[in-house]
Amino acid sequence: MSKNLDIINNHESVVRSYIRNFPTVFTKAKDHKMWNEDGKEYLDFFSGAGALNYGHNNDHMKQKLVDYIMSDGITHSLDMASTAKAEFLQKFYDVILHPRNLDYKVMFPGPTGTNTVESALKLARKVTGRTDIISFTGGFHGMTIGALSVTGNSMKRQGAGIPLQNTVTMAYDNYVDHDTLVYLERFLEDKGSGVAIPAAMIVETVQGEGGINAARFEWLKQIEEICRRWGILLIVDEVQAGIGRTGTFFSFEAAGIKPDIICLSKSLSGYGLPLAVTLIKPELDIWKPGEHNGTFRGNNHAFVTATAALDFWMDSSFEEEIHEKSEIIYSFLEDIVEKYPEINGEVRGRGFMVGIASEVEGFSSKVTARCFELGLIMETAGPNDEVFKLFPALNIPKEDLQRGLEIIEESVKGLVKDPVTN
Ligand SMILES: Cc1ncc(COP(=O)(O)O)c(C=O)c1O
Repeated sequence: MSKNLDIINNHESVVRSYIRNFPTVFTKAKDHKMWNEDGKEYLDFFSGAGALNYGHNNDHMKQKLVDYIMSDGITHSLDMASTAKAEFLQKFYDVILHPRNLDYKVMFPGPTGTNTVESALKLARKVTGRTDIISFTGGFHGMTIGALSVTGNSMKRQGAGIPLQNTVTMAYDNYVDHDTLVYLERFLEDKGSGVAIPAAMIVETVQGEGGINAARFEWLKQIEEICRRWGILLIVDEVQAGIGRTGTFFSFEAAGIKPDIICLSKSLSGYGLPLAVTLIKPELDIWKPGEHNGTFRGNNHAFVTATAALDFWMDSSFEEEIHEKSEIIYSFLEDIVEKYPEINGEVRGRGFMVGIASEVEGFSSKVTARCFELGLIMETAGPNDEVFKLFPALNIPKEDLQRGLEIIEESVKGLVKDPVTN
């Protein structure tokens, strides 16, 4: 047992989690690879749970950051003005918002995903004067109280220790065999339903933690229409599905919708540095100055790397690259499900946000554990960890993508052939 692992296990709270699935001490990471203390190499199909869509320590971003640090550029500035922030805002407008015909004000909440979600919920309530939020089965939005109140997972919800209020959960797409939106709209129109018209609906286009459930574009379009019809604000939580993960910069682009409020974080900084934004339709930007505040909103190092990361989006080549490789991943997963019927598998997801849900209890956790032994880092998702979830860096070279897929197949094959000893 490693001394460093001992130190961490002795001193860190039992709340630690990923270390339990990947019990080794990492020392170095580059692009889509990580190394541990013994020099063992791992392919990273986890990517910081979506915070490292461009891999680890990307050379271009690193150089910009090192230059900035060496020139004593501002590190911390609350929400005072800095050149790093101005450059980020300008480039985000030029490269992302303007070409997509999207008109949003950019708010900096705290630097994490749950911070942007909290700010979105607060703003929706303030704008509409209503209290309730509709969220969806399987949704995951973060660990602070507001975000937990719109999160489905019962274990996480219980952690709140208080009643989670002013929210109503509705069925996500394909949650049942019926059209879930007929049911949703009936609740809104029926004065006897017990459900008040909410301030907002909050939705993920593909649910990450909830089990890689991808809503159909048609469903998302109808959600938008229902919101418009009833004067309900539409919040799309892009924290995990955004920044290219499903194939486009915003995951909702392909559905042709325009949310009122957008939550972005994880891979926004591109370098794994904490950064979040809440994008707000201009007419909804009715905050009083300082009404939503936070010490770490001016993370200038993250602005620098986020600005550099936008170079990936200057033309359509990166999207094309993601598309091409995601087809390789998807057909690999379909083959696995067909070749190994024993796992009762179902391919889920979209783009680079995909996985296999297995009906065999504990199977997906065993696959990820076996992959780890074989040098591949991958996590599970879903309320019962029933999905093994492939999250490689979007710019992973095809050869290493292929190598990772081979490790996954080897793990699945081993477990199917030898289920008793595993
Ligand atoms: C969709 C979604 N929203 C919000 C969050 C919370 O982000 P953070 O962990 O940075 O608070 C996550 C985290 O996984 C997420 O997947």
